[in-house]
Amino acid sequence: MLTGKKVILGISGGIAAYKAAYLIRLFRKAGAEVKVVGTANAFEFITKVTLESLSENKVYHQVFGEENDYTTEHVSLTDWGDVFVVAPATANIIGKLANGIADDALSTSLLAFDRRVFIAPAMNCKMYAHDAVQQNMDKLRKQGAQIIEPAEGFLACGYEGKGRMEEPENIFSIVDNYLRTGASSLSGRKFLVTAGPTRESIDPVRYLGNHSSGKMGYALAEELAGRGAVVHLVSGPTHLQPGSSSGIHLVRVTSSEEMLQACMKYYPECDAAIMAAAVSDFKPAIQHPRKIKKNKPGSPLQLELQPTTDILARMGKEKKKQLLVGFALETDQEETNALKKLNEKNLDLIVLNSLRDEGAGFAHDTNKITIMDNKQGIFRYPLQSKQKAAADIVNMVESYI
Ligand code: CTP
Repeated sequence: MLTGKKVILGISGGIAAYKAAYLIRLFRKAGAEVKVVGTANAFEFITKVTLESLSENKVYHQVFGEENDYTTEHVSLTDWGDVFVVAPATANIIGKLANGIADDALSTSLLAFDRRVFIAPAMNCKMYAHDAVQQNMDKLRKQGAQIIEPAEGFLACGYEGKGRMEEPENIFSIVDNYLRTGASSLSGRKFLVTAGPTRESIDPVRYLGNHSSGKMGYALAEELAGRGAVVHLVSGPTHLQPGSSSGIHLVRVTSSEEMLQACMKYYPECDAAIMAAAVSDFKPAIQHPRKIKKNKPGSPLQLELQPTTDILARMGKEKKKQLLVGFALETDQEETNALKKLNEKNLDLIVLNSLRDEGAGFAHDTNKITIMDNKQGIFRYPLQSKQKAAADIVNMVESYI
């Protein structure tokens, strides 16, 4: 039941607006309160009387006017709602929200709303495929909105293709899941996350390692678990402990070989893997069973190194249904190198850090990331906390899943 939950339903002007009536019924039957805000065009397709009767609430449709009781309604309405669902969302309202345009009751209230927004697009398939619409939807994903992808099929305009609004039952069940569990669509999803450095043993005393703190990987695991996912966190040696989230299964490893084994164990059952660990690319060819002695003082020591298995590349080869996300830490030609890794390792997304950016990289609590996808999408973020960067990465992953 959704008793006590408050849903703002935004309706824009498309033929699918008639389905909004059914969506209101589903929310009301589940015990939620619903308030509707619509664009002028929405009411060309469905009447206010219908929406008011079904929602048992006043319908919002103007920023100024006689009905307005001299409060800033678009703000008070948005303070009221737990979620904002825009169904149907036309190319126009998607474009407005993506670009911060607020010129009517729906667009102003959307801009003033700071909790979870669900967008259910509905439009002609050629409009939906247009680069401008796709870019706007990417912007919305980046802003944290959840896009409820339209279905394929016959459209009211006579075309057949992708653009038909998702059925009200499915929209309802996605929002219902979010409202009941506090989790997003990641509820019940399984993730593999790697974090931290690896240590490649030279002898019983020494190892080859790196400066990775593990903070980024742990922040990712926390963020995923906080959204309801089950996370296998395969961690190299760090001083970190996952927080109280119950969804994290911590597997501690030391060497790249142990990390490989753990990843291969959990990867097949996972929906996605995010590989944030700084895995050593080389290991000593021989692990000395005894401590290497100095022998003659001042004489150099030759250490022969051999490559480790590239875990991420192996996972790219064995990928079935999984969404695979890699990291790239670069010092020059950053985007070119990251793109090369994305393609060569068969990834869906790659998160790039540049060691040239101040505040990014190992030793910091902050990070400056760029996310690239395998469809030439590129999303650049400002310097921010590793927690916020983790939230942005997970937003992106969620929208691809
Ligand atoms: N990675 C891995 N196994 C390795 C090396 C790297 O799984 N043996 C993964 C890392 O977890 C990261 C990605 O590969 O997600 C890229 O790591 P990075 O060190 O930036 O790149 P490499 O592919 O190792 O290439 P190079 O060091 O030459 O830049």
